Amino acid sequence: MLSVNLEKLILPNNQIHFYYADINDFISNVGVMQEWLTADEKLRAGQFKFQTDQNRFIIARWLLRSLLSNYLEIDFGEVVFEYGEYGKPFFNTNQNIKFNLSHSGDMIVFGFVKNFDIGVDVEVLKMDFDVMDIALKFFSKKEVGMLQSLPEQRREVAFYRCWTRKEAIIKAYGSGLSFPLDTFSVSMDSDDTAELLEASIGDLDKEKWRLFSIRPKTDYLTAIAVNSKITQILFKPLMLLEL
Ligand code: COA
Ligand code: MG
Repeated sequence: MLSVNLEKLILPNNQIHFYYADINDFISNVGVMQEWLTADEKLRAGQFKFQTDQNRFIIARWLLRSLLSNYLEIDFGEVVFEYGEYGKPFFNTNQNIKFNLSHSGDMIVFGFVKNFDIGVDVEVLKMDFDVMDIALKFFSKKEVGMLQSLPEQRREVAFYRCWTRKEAIIKAYGSGLSFPLDTFSVSMDSDDTAELLEASIGDLDKEKWRLFSIRPKTDYLTAIAVNSKITQILFKPLMLLEL
């Protein structure tokens, strides 16, 4: 039987729980994990063009079910997802646990919180493109200005901080790209001070939102966004246990 390296999980109201997993640690068991997909998930898994994308999807769903069934003390098979208008998966729980996940390269990350909206994004840091080019297309005027004002050697990482923080916010909202990315600005000059600086639409009140940046592994940057004043994050790598 397969399981993950977790004791009984309890999520207090004032904490965010963050998990990260390397696909290579799970790939040899993808066949067993696939059996836990629901009919609609099997259909989706079958539609990926590349095997790596299919495997990542299967592993992510299996890990998500492991985590939720542990928090809620329910069977794996009882975890059946519903989807918001723009595709954000959710699971109605009596404990009001919210989650979000993201994947990039070999990494899958998960964020959990109670009672608030959460969004996470991870990106593998690739330095093979013109950051100003992309920033001009997606970032706010303020963000483009901040990026430009940084010395060139600091711009790439700053770009990824900004990108992941913005994406984490729209993922918390669940609105996908229907939320205009240039209507709000986030900080980008350090991993430690992640802030929503200004916003002109929605209930993106900077007093209400918290942002965090985490580097789970060299070359990967993650952002977490939550509409709560929570400050405590516990994070843990996920590993496979074969019982
Ligand atoms: N809101 C929040 N989460 C969503 C979502 C939504 N509307 N739709 C799907 N998700 C979840 C799912 O769990 C999905 O994983 P799954 O397909 O295995 O179930 C996961 O988020 C995908 O996240 P990620 O790995 O970060 O994918 P992405 O970066 O390709 O897509 C979305 C992010 C879902 C928000 C999508 O709207 C998108 O295409 N964004 C474009 C990225 C972009 O332009 N960002 C600009 C930042 S400046
Ligand atoms: Mg993403």
